Amino acid sequence: MILFTYIYKILKRVFFYIKKIQWIFVYFKFKLNRVKFKDLKSNGIPITDISIHGRVNIGRNFQMNNGYSYNIIGRQQPCCFIVGRGGELIINNNVGISSTAIVCWNRIEIGNNVRIGGGTVIYDTDFHSLDYKERISLPEIKDNVMTAPVLIKQNAFIGANSTILKGVTIGEGSVVGACSVVTKDVPDNEVWGGNPAKFIKSLKN
Ligand SMILES: CC(C)(COP(=O)(O)OP(=O)(O)OC[C@H]1O[C@@H](n2cnc3c(N)ncnc32)[C@H](O)[C@@H]1OP(=O)(O)O)[C@@H](O)C(=O)NCCC(=O)NCCS
Repeated sequence: MILFTYIYKILKRVFFYIKKIQWIFVYFKFKLNRVKFKDLKSNGIPITDISIHGRVNIGRNFQMNNGYSYNIIGRQQPCCFIVGRGGELIINNNVGISSTAIVCWNRIEIGNNVRIGGGTVIYDTDFHSLDYKERISLPEIKDNVMTAPVLIKQNAFIGANSTILKGVTIGEGSVVGACSVVTKDVPDNEVWGGNPAKFIKSLKN
């Protein structure tokens, strides 16, 4: 039986490496969406929908895991890069993300060395108006949908399955606990967590 287990493990590894050629699809998908990038490493293929009037700039050494077989912590899904008209998404150097959805209608910036855990979502918009009459009108009125920029400063770490909402700044070196909903700014070098995320502790010595 152990022999079959070895064969199974070898085939799994071989299949894993064969799938690495998916980077070719990512390359063309990003180019066709006018995403500016340098040397990214992608396991799997992200969902990408960038408006003709949106902009995406990705720095050096960007790494992403896109769902099944590349995100072994559960809740597998590909990363999503959705940038609306006039939106600007900036991902600086040495950033790593897993199964993360980024929806940008305004401006989202992710600083150097940021790590974002699997299943996280980052929204700089409410998507729909707060006025139900605008939400139910046909076509839906989106002129008054609120948006505000999101900034995740360098060296921050966002725990898995967190939600970062519009207008939030996550401080330099700060940590957001798993499954948090961040609605307010997190200062530098602090740990915040929960829904809504609250101060847990300082990381300053
Ligand atoms: C936030 C975190 C780093 C804190 O770890 P820690 O320093 O060991 O802290 P502790 O476990 O001692 O918890 C300290 C306090 O924070 C609370 N806390 C910890 N994680 C929390 C979370 N995700 N949400 C809300 N509160 C949290 C604890 O309940 C505890 O509260 P108390 O002091 O009232 O008892 C850790 O809990 C966490 O969420 N890690 C992220 C893991 C992850 O998602 N990795 C990414 C995988 S891709």
